[in-house]
Amino acid sequence: MLKSAISSTIHSIKLNHSTPGDKSLASSAIFWFSIAFIGHLIFVLYIVALYGVSLFEGDFERWNSMMPNGYTEGDIAGNINIGLHVILAAVISLGGPLQIIPKLRAWVPRFHRWNGRVYIGTAVIISLTGLYLTWIRGSAVGTFVMDIAISINAVLIILFAIIAIRFAIARNFTIHRKWALRLFMVVSGVWFFRVGLMLWLLIHQRPVGFDPVTFQGPFLTVLTFAQYLLPLLFLEIYFWAQERAGQTGKIGTAVLIAVLTIAMGAGIFGATMGMWLPNIY
Ligand code: HEM
Repeated sequence: MLKSAISSTIHSIKLNHSTPGDKSLASSAIFWFSIAFIGHLIFVLYIVALYGVSLFEGDFERWNSMMPNGYTEGDIAGNINIGLHVILAAVISLGGPLQIIPKLRAWVPRFHRWNGRVYIGTAVIISLTGLYLTWIRGSAVGTFVMDIAISINAVLIILFAIIAIRFAIARNFTIHRKWALRLFMVVSGVWFFRVGLMLWLLIHQRPVGFDPVTFQGPFLTVLTFAQYLLPLLFLEIYFWAQERAGQTGKIGTAVLIAVLTIAMGAGIFGATMGMWLPNIY
């Protein structure tokens, strides 16, 4: 009885995966992930080259080339927070994509478990240091509403991390996978912000909808919410297409993901050329 149930489940999964809709959805997800992975790797290179190297050399003033409120003489607690924040930024931006590669998970499950623990711990600490920098030290740029938006991002990261780990401990891997992907999206929020901003600048060729000096304006307010709400929305559309949509829904979602990936790729290109590469070399 059990044997026949398992074999029919496997059969139906195989059938499912052989439909053109499922194939195109899977290809679009791989396309999206490959470009996002490359973008995360460049971000990690940038963090290591700028903050890692200057930390190693004791040249803390260099932090302020990209942050108005980076290193502040005499503010020991603030400097420790920002130092920890940028070190963990490299750890989480590398560990996150590695965590969701299915082949790596199957090949070295122990790595997945250990990297998962590091990822969850890092997610919580980076959010707490981010909240400290936002509300206690105070950022020199942005607005109160943007601070609220990024703080919601921090709360979602901590919440999703707890939910994802609870389902992993309960060995409910179907639900765990979903929450782990939601966690990846909210953790990548600040990365999406940089990519979205540089895509916008690439399109307009000048700052539109915000002041580049005060870093305030309607575009940036919307982007600070959109950096995690839009990825979460598109992820839910992807889950829906995978589980419930017909062929048209699956193919339509695959096309949507492909178009979004091209836009994301353009934003990564803009961020790499305008922000990250000049600090790597
Ligand atoms: C979870 C993933 C996060 C990553 C990977 C990350 C990464 C970074 C990086 C690399 C910087 C240095 C600026 C740059 O070179 O671009 C930075 C600065 C900063 N981050 Fe985060 N961050 C994350 C989450 C957060 C959260 C959730 C908050 C707020 C609650 C936050 C608040 C800040 C603040 C206030 C600064 C300093 C900006 C300034 O004063 O100029 N970060 N972050």
